[in-house]
Amino acid sequence: MSTAIHYEREGDIAVLKAQNPPVNALGIDIRKGLLEGIERAEREGAHAVLIYGDGRTYFAGADIKEFGKPPQDPYLPDLCNRIEASPLIVVSALHGTALGGGLEVALSSHYRIAVPSAKMGLPEVHLGILPGAGGTQRLPRVAGTQRALEMITSGRHFGAKEALEAGIIDRIAEGDVRTIGLAYTQELLDQGAERRAVGEMPAPEVVDFDALYEATLKKGRGQLSPATCVRAVQAAAEAPSLAEGLKRERELFMELMNSEQRLGLIHAFFSERAVSKLPELKGVEPRPLAAIGVIGGGTMGAGIATAALLAGLSVVMLEMSAEAAEAAKGRIAGNLQGALKRGKITEDQFTRLTEEALTLAVDYAALSEADLVIEAVFEEMSVKKEVFGKLDAHCKQGAILATNTSYLDVNEIAAATSRPEDVIGLHFFSPAHVMKLLEVVVADKTALDVVATGFELGKRLKKISVRAGVCDGFIGNRILATYRKAADHMVLDGASPYQIDKALTDFGFAMGPFAVADLAGLDIGWAVRKRKRAEGLDPRERDSSYVDKICEAGNFGQKTGKGYYIYEVGKRGGVPNPEVSDLIASERAEKGITPRAFSDEEIVTRYMAAMVNEAAKVVGEGIARRPLDVDMTLLFGYGFPRYRGGPLKWADIQGLEKLLGHIRTYAEEDAYFWSPAPLLEQLVAEGRSFDDLNKENS
Ligand code: 3HC
Ligand code: NAI
Repeated sequence: MSTAIHYEREGDIAVLKAQNPPVNALGIDIRKGLLEGIERAEREGAHAVLIYGDGRTYFAGADIKEFGKPPQDPYLPDLCNRIEASPLIVVSALHGTALGGGLEVALSSHYRIAVPSAKMGLPEVHLGILPGAGGTQRLPRVAGTQRALEMITSGRHFGAKEALEAGIIDRIAEGDVRTIGLAYTQELLDQGAERRAVGEMPAPEVVDFDALYEATLKKGRGQLSPATCVRAVQAAAEAPSLAEGLKRERELFMELMNSEQRLGLIHAFFSERAVSKLPELKGVEPRPLAAIGVIGGGTMGAGIATAALLAGLSVVMLEMSAEAAEAAKGRIAGNLQGALKRGKITEDQFTRLTEEALTLAVDYAALSEADLVIEAVFEEMSVKKEVFGKLDAHCKQGAILATNTSYLDVNEIAAATSRPEDVIGLHFFSPAHVMKLLEVVVADKTALDVVATGFELGKRLKKISVRAGVCDGFIGNRILATYRKAADHMVLDGASPYQIDKALTDFGFAMGPFAVADLAGLDIGWAVRKRKRAEGLDPRERDSSYVDKICEAGNFGQKTGKGYYIYEVGKRGGVPNPEVSDLIASERAEKGITPRAFSDEEIVTRYMAAMVNEAAKVVGEGIARRPLDVDMTLLFGYGFPRYRGGPLKWADIQGLEKLLGHIRTYAEEDAYFWSPAPLLEQLVAEGRSFDDLNKENS
């Protein structure tokens, strides 16, 4: 007997209560228990069956941990068919999140009731698969083809009200889920209601599936699961029977289940949850976090303040002058206007956030009560040190002093204070109130509870927080600097920035590196290059200067309307700037380089090899704890395609030996840039993968 489903009788009703915390995933024990429960109810003469979930939710889906393992009987699709075929009246009562296989069990039941707060959805596309237990066949039969397609291809969650309007549930009732479920089932019995199987309803309407398939494929930027769902729903409308439709759904489901994209997306699902769970933080209490100070209200400071205000924290914004502080407030208000327009906050909240929760200051005394201060002033060590000296003098005991520096040495900044244990890097990404990534940069002397508070802040701001060690650029910008150099080398050798951007967006990146540089501002990279050259470049390093010439002419990318691309006001994206090709041609001539042709495939391989090699160095040196930390950094901060899982998951899928082979070949022409990462060599020698390291360190 399975204990995951508790069976009991309430008069004529057999009650099946799921107990598989935390989310009642439909693992083998639950499936066995449901099957046994239905059979027992039929055997013992019940008239109806009520299915509901104990704890926080109805079934939140199939058990994702079982994916990739040999399937175990009873299979979910068969179970759903069995529930639907029962001669008894089967009712599901929903609360929490009835997702994926959960909603499919509900759709196989004959009637559905939900509490008002219940959420539903078929989010399988986000895992690289499709609803594989009849969801693509049953949902369109109740909600109609168009509506079902939108829900399935987007994978979005929807509320009980929308589900009721769409015919997905039959009733909404307030109260305890078991109580409302029992009352509804009894009412159905009292009325002599008929068994009502969704699968026996007429097939949904036929639409132009080919056009929808193409449109969905395009929108998915290379992700296959949403478009494949269109074909499955097409089978619901066009197949001669439910059984045939289900068969087609199964074929397509298996195709996706065996795909690399499914591997990537499942890796992303679990890594997103694992990334902020660090063994050393177990049981470490974060420090109190209510009042925040932000120093410098430019692009980043204003964004950070916005995020903090939206998370319910009070913010003191300190600037260099009263005028600069007012300007910072203007930027914050502008950001909050966006939230107001999107309905995320009300007018009243907007006023409260800008007029009460936010305070402007020019004097450090205003920071004396702050629990945590984040500095976002100019990227200059001398300025940072001056600011931290003042913070040391004015902030209360135990206050956390954080820097948002992109590249500077956090140890050196910490040394400007008498309390380096309270100093940490909190590296946000632009725009800080939108981008999900937060690098929590741990310096040599940072106390553990300060690290825990960094992660706590990330959680409050709804960020994906990644632990990083101190080095030039931490995890993300350090890896970016390397793959960006690989792109620059290819430009010198014959590829155009536009071919490179196109090859990489075709690979699935949100943007190519040159379009990204235009968006971030070419002045940022220019300043870094100047700093590096001043420090002295290694003579073996290939340097390129054509982009400096763009900057020297006052062109910094999107913000000045011109960079690698030319941007017209009001238009999204830009067109290639012809001056750039001329500048590149003269630099090649100066350096005596005869340009050669690059295939898109070679561009992607070199770019990704550079990224993976540097990422392996970052993990090998302990800057990132685990490969998955790099993967999440690139996914949430650098537009890496989620369906590829991250650069190191991608590397595992390609095969590390093959990749190291490419790096060694490239090293024959430039041994300095392409020096293989020792960790990569070690993994290849030992026949292990990055994922093995993830497992060993989680
Ligand atoms: N299978 C296995 N484990 C799951 C799971 C699932 N379907 N859903 C969640 N979990 C685990 C999480 O990994 C996490 O584990 P951890 O504590 O060890 O890290 C734990 O349950 C709690 O999850 P969250 O931290 O995400 O809790 P939240 O309250 O923030 O969110 C949720 C709950 C909305 C249910 C969210 O977990 C979620 O979206 N889950 C995935 C839902 C989903 O995709 N379902 C479809 C599955 S595929 C399917 O059903 C195929 C079918 O069509 C054949
Ligand atoms: P910015 O130039 O837009 O803003 C800096 C602000 O700091 C200005 O408003 C200036 O008035 C103020 N300021 C300067 N010195 C000050 C001082 N001594 N006291 C008080 N205020 C002072 O710069 P931005 O882009 O916001 O960058 C800030 C920091 O964030 C830098 O360290 C940068 O490296 C980092 N960063 C920038 C990102 C970006 O994309 N712009 C991304 C992530 C980090």
